[in-house]
Amino acid sequence: MVVGSVLVTGGTGYIGSFTVLALLENDYKVVIVDNLFNSDHEVLRRIELISGKRPEFYNVDITKEENFDKVFTDHPDIDNVIHFAALKAVGESGERPLDYYYVNVYGSLCLLQSMKKHNVTNIVFSSSATVYGDATRFPNMIPIPEICPLGPTNPYGNTKFVVETIITDHINAQRTIAKKEGKTGEEWNGALLRYFNPAGAHPSGVMGEDPQGVPYNLLPLLAQVAVGKREKLLVFGDDYASKDGTAIRDYIHILDLARGHLVALNHLREHHPGVRAWNLGTGKGSTVLDMVKSFSHAVGRDLPYQVVGRRSGDVLDLTANPTRANEELKWKAEFTLEDACADLWRWTENNPQGYRQQPPKEFLDK
Ligand code: NAD
Ligand code: WQD
Repeated sequence: MVVGSVLVTGGTGYIGSFTVLALLENDYKVVIVDNLFNSDHEVLRRIELISGKRPEFYNVDITKEENFDKVFTDHPDIDNVIHFAALKAVGESGERPLDYYYVNVYGSLCLLQSMKKHNVTNIVFSSSATVYGDATRFPNMIPIPEICPLGPTNPYGNTKFVVETIITDHINAQRTIAKKEGKTGEEWNGALLRYFNPAGAHPSGVMGEDPQGVPYNLLPLLAQVAVGKREKLLVFGDDYASKDGTAIRDYIHILDLARGHLVALNHLREHHPGVRAWNLGTGKGSTVLDMVKSFSHAVGRDLPYQVVGRRSGDVLDLTANPTRANEELKWKAEFTLEDACADLWRWTENNPQGYRQQPPKEFLDK
């Protein structure tokens, strides 16, 4: 039995692929739009290996409205969208801001225009904790609640802030128009999901993060150190006001994050909240050295690191206050940091070439 139909943009990417898996495992029909800019076709096979289901896939760009028109015409049953597709490298966004605004903002406009035309009314949007910028400006706002004033500090963060605003204005306008026509307008809903730091892989070792090119984030870099692709980790600064001087983040297991999308979508469909922002984090902060220790434990040996200067744009503490999601979505992160590190290591060991290789043999033999 199919409970609903969802278009997932960016559905072959890291967070998107795990969300597709969660949707399929919960009886949603899934259609993916992705141009494979930062992902691989092989992920579709891995999703099928785990779930026994293969999502429909369109290899197209989100910056063409007609691509969405075709998908919605082909699948008139789609009434929900989860929108992941974006460029996401913070540093690069400072060098190529126009590309970031084009894909992240114009691509979102193309999607929303087409959704409106085809009367698709629920959207779950991949926002980011980065919209808060340096929340330590407000010492009483750590851990960070959704009511913390927003203030992104780089073009990537600005695109997330702009798209949050566009979705809010659009949904509110559609609701107002509907009310003027004597209807409730309650079918128009948007979830703005502000993720903290995604971590880990599928416990089977079959799905994980496979960044193309040079990774930017801590855990993929640590994984490269563990397999010898990188000599050591550079720790960016040990002069922060934390227990060991390194910066604090809220690392959330990818399975918890994916489930957060499922429950947010179900909430929109059942409770019609209009537009609402939710933090998806654990509420527990870990320093860079906590992560080195935890991942070293998973690997079974100490991983080499060297402390260097701070990375420009980094802030001391980005830890979520996830109470709103805990209470309203009845969602809580369940996996531990140790789970995330163990799963990441299993994925890394099993798939030295990421998705550019056959799945692990024992899995195919099953
Ligand atoms: P990802 O790069 O793995 O996934 C993004 C997907 O979008 C990729 O598969 C890519 O091929 C696709 N894509 C990019 N440009 C496209 C285009 N023009 N047309 C069609 N498809 C396109 O990234 P992710 O880590 O899975 O992130 C997913 C979303 O979550 C992004 O919106 C990102 O900004 C947001 N986010 C990520 C993090 C993180 O740390 N990974 C944290 C907070 C928010
Ligand atoms: C984590 C910690 C680094 C690499 C970024 C984006 C954010 C969101 C998640 C998309 C920091 C330290 C890192 C290294 C290090 N993405 N570090 N050595 O910066 O918290 O968040 O990804 O929305 O918007 O900004 O994540 O994994 O890069 O860094 O010491 O080689 O690890 O300084 O304290 P970050 P990260």
